[in-house]
Amino acid sequence: MRGLIFAANWKMNLGPSDAAAYMASFLPACDPNHDRMVWFFPPALSVTSVVAALRESGRHDIVVGVQDIYWEDQGAFTGAVSARMAAQAGAALTLVGHSERRHVFGETDEQTGRKIAAALRANLFPVLCVGETLAQRDAGETLAVITRQLEAALAQVTANLAIAYEPVWAIGTGRNATPKDAADVHRAIRQWLRARTPQPISILYGGSVNLKNVAALLAEPELDGVLVGGASLDPKAWAELVRTARA
Ligand code: PGA
Repeated sequence: MRGLIFAANWKMNLGPSDAAAYMASFLPACDPNHDRMVWFFPPALSVTSVVAALRESGRHDIVVGVQDIYWEDQGAFTGAVSARMAAQAGAALTLVGHSERRHVFGETDEQTGRKIAAALRANLFPVLCVGETLAQRDAGETLAVITRQLEAALAQVTANLAIAYEPVWAIGTGRNATPKDAADVHRAIRQWLRARTPQPISILYGGSVNLKNVAALLAEPELDGVLVGGASLDPKAWAELVRTARA
């Protein structure tokens, strides 16, 4: 990994033809830059559209991933997408344990651990999402929750992955963590990781990141990049956000 990481999580937006139109608008607006990488997490059905656009443009600074995988490699699991299939479609990354998977779909800590293992088996680079709810933050449980999520997901592996710290109360709410709030949690995550692996692991911040607050967030050296939902859906605005330099 090198430089800042700008990751776009499209969630359940932009189908295959929308994704092709998005890339046709985004790519000319975003020149490759050696000090940053762009990651796209389109819906699984749109991965091949994004991969095709990147192949055509010869861009290597942009990497594509899926938003979720199932932990089995294949079989009778109607509706599920395996890590191996995602890799076959051209994905190199996968989100694991996004708060919408945890809170809307009931994914458990134990399941995130299985998904991390499945991703690594298929050579997908996992981005483990962790974060506390507002009630947990107010109860002073932020670090306990995050430690529990890290321990469950990373019981077997602590290499070849990235972490995204996304406080649940900041996702899609317009209420982002202050740079200091984010940095404090990133520092705690890094400390947890340092006790387990010598490998440097990138830690992204996510939760209502937008053009207005991204520069202040990235001024915190604890942040290796950002994971952005809503503000990544407009290709021109996303290209502008990706141009943000570390202050
Ligand atoms: P948001 O989503 O930027 O719309 O808050 C971030 C995320 O869920 O990854």
